[in-house]
Amino acid sequence: MELNDRVIIVTGAGSGIGAATARLLAARGAKVVVSDIADTGAQTTESIRAAGGEAEFVQGDIGVEAGAQALVAATLDRYGRLDGAFNNAGVEQCAVPLHKLTGEQWDRAVRVDLSGVFYCLKHQITAMLESGGGSIVNTASALGRVAIPNAAEYVAAKHGVVGLTKAAAADYGRQGIRVNAVLPGIVETTMVARISQDPTFAAYFDTLRRRHVMGRFGKPGEIGESVAWLLSDASSFVTGAAISVDGGYLAV
Ligand SMILES: NC(=O)c1ccc[n+]([C@@H]2O[C@H](COP(=O)([O-])OP(=O)(O)OC[C@H]3O[C@@H](n4cnc5c(N)ncnc54)[C@H](O)[C@@H]3O)[C@@H](O)[C@H]2O)c1
Repeated sequence: MELNDRVIIVTGAGSGIGAATARLLAARGAKVVVSDIADTGAQTTESIRAAGGEAEFVQGDIGVEAGAQALVAATLDRYGRLDGAFNNAGVEQCAVPLHKLTGEQWDRAVRVDLSGVFYCLKHQITAMLESGGGSIVNTASALGRVAIPNAAEYVAAKHGVVGLTKAAAADYGRQGIRVNAVLPGIVETTMVARISQDPTFAAYFDTLRRRHVMGRFGKPGEIGESVAWLLSDASSFVTGAAISVDGGYLAV
């Protein structure tokens, strides 16, 4: 599980799953490049440094190619190589049925949740091909396997992340680059706090909790533990996998 001196990018690291994972990776010895569109990435970076870890904050939008490219370029400028990445930045669903979804709402989810992962993969893999390999983990969702009502754009984007993960694994398996996805169930983050404000979802939340066979939602660090394993050599024969970390949500 050691990640000593590995240079690892974490996107969406200003909050929730990304922030917890960035702290965990740094505690295991990684040099973490904290990426977020919001300035909350500075807080994650400070907390890592305060705990004695190594981190740099690169603020930007990974939902446009130039943002993802600049993130990888800043990483190479600072550390000279890239060993791992956790492509986790994302936005939630707009909580309307499909026929009421606007083109703008659709585009927002697909741009950040799916195209953002593609742009990151493209530039991260280019860097890893130079240095001889690496490990990448993408955040999909249990909704990358199944749907819930009123989330068409999110469900479609997250299903896309699972497919993109397999495609990238197939392209680079022989070049020492592993690509996997984690599929979280509901995890207590500000994203979920925002969604739960919506009356449609609020009414649905008890049903969702019951679908987690453990009878509870997850903690951000519980996703981070799986990500740390996938980024380490302990998972050396795992690629193209979509791993559920969901308290049993997809088991029933
Ligand atoms: N929380 C859950 O229940 C849950 C479940 C399944 C999957 N996920 C996925 O996990 C990931 C993290 O979610 P979270 O719950 O920690 O959410 P969060 O809202 O707490 O954190 C997401 C972070 O991504 C950043 N971000 C958003 N758009 C960005 C962009 N264009 N460029 C760079 N950064 C951007 C935000 O600023 C934020 O800091 C997302 O991909 C989400 O879809 C979350």
